[in-house]
Amino acid sequence: MTQIVRKKLDLKKLIKELKSKNKSIGLVPTMGALHQGHISLIQMSRTQYDVTVATIFVNPTQFNNPEDLTKYPRNEIEDLDTLTKAGCDIVFIPSDKEMYEQAPSIKLDFGYLETIMEGKFRPGHFNGVGIIVMKLFGLVEPNGAYFGQKDLQQFKIISTLVNEFELPITLHMAPIVRETSGLALSSRNTRLSEEHKKIAIKLHHALTQAKDSIRQGNSIEKTINNAKQSISNCTDIELEYFEIVDFKTLQNISMPNEADRLALCIAAHVAGVRLIDNIIIEG
Ligand code: PAJ
Repeated sequence: MTQIVRKKLDLKKLIKELKSKNKSIGLVPTMGALHQGHISLIQMSRTQYDVTVATIFVNPTQFNNPEDLTKYPRNEIEDLDTLTKAGCDIVFIPSDKEMYEQAPSIKLDFGYLETIMEGKFRPGHFNGVGIIVMKLFGLVEPNGAYFGQKDLQQFKIISTLVNEFELPITLHMAPIVRETSGLALSSRNTRLSEEHKKIAIKLHHALTQAKDSIRQGNSIEKTINNAKQSISNCTDIELEYFEIVDFKTLQNISMPNEADRLALCIAAHVAGVRLIDNIIIEG
């Protein structure tokens, strides 16, 4: 059975006990509405650490759009069942009040990373992500933590925190779990009808087409333009960005061979639901 913890104090006690027994701890932060992508992180943590702690908290400070926050899917009972079946040891599910007795008094500014893609289109988002992840790191004191490539820019943000604050935590980036259609699993997919899901698959198609285009020797500019064109042909998709960047730095590049690895990244709204996806290819 997965042990359910709702209070910070109870979590602290449990962690202290585990530390006194020299148990290594793997952390998997989530916002719930769990799917196989989340479970893959739990499975990885279980192979590497003695104890796996998952967290479920729909973090209000990282939502720049109030409607997105109210519509964010929540199903605690199913999630707890999923975590038990996945063999997760502990789940921390705090209330908003438990996590934020008062509004945070600090602001995190990630510089360049705030000015592109998710940072540009979701102002304040990474400040909220940074604050909640630092809180969870402080509470759980994990040896390792798992995050998905699906949120590539988020992974870079968290790497920045770990590096700059010298946190003794190993970060693991997990590959994107997809439906057989290619659609990246996302909690927000539950808000899509079957018909809209079929449209959402086009985001992944645009990425794989761009990958082929680069492989065929086309320039970054032409590849991006073609991808934007093919998406704009579909009236049900509202594109936010399509970028091809250096995987390491997320800086723009003009030629594929300027970087060892390239990240092809897309964000778009399908039927009012905001979706992101990416693929990583050799440069
Ligand atoms: P959430 O969207 O619930 O995602 C939790 C973790 O699961 C993230 O690290 C995310 O990248 C990963 N993930 C999501 N979809 C995935 C997929 N299809 N395959 C593999 N991994 C996937 O990301 C967050 O929550 C929050 O921002 C959080 C880090 C918990 C801070 O609030």
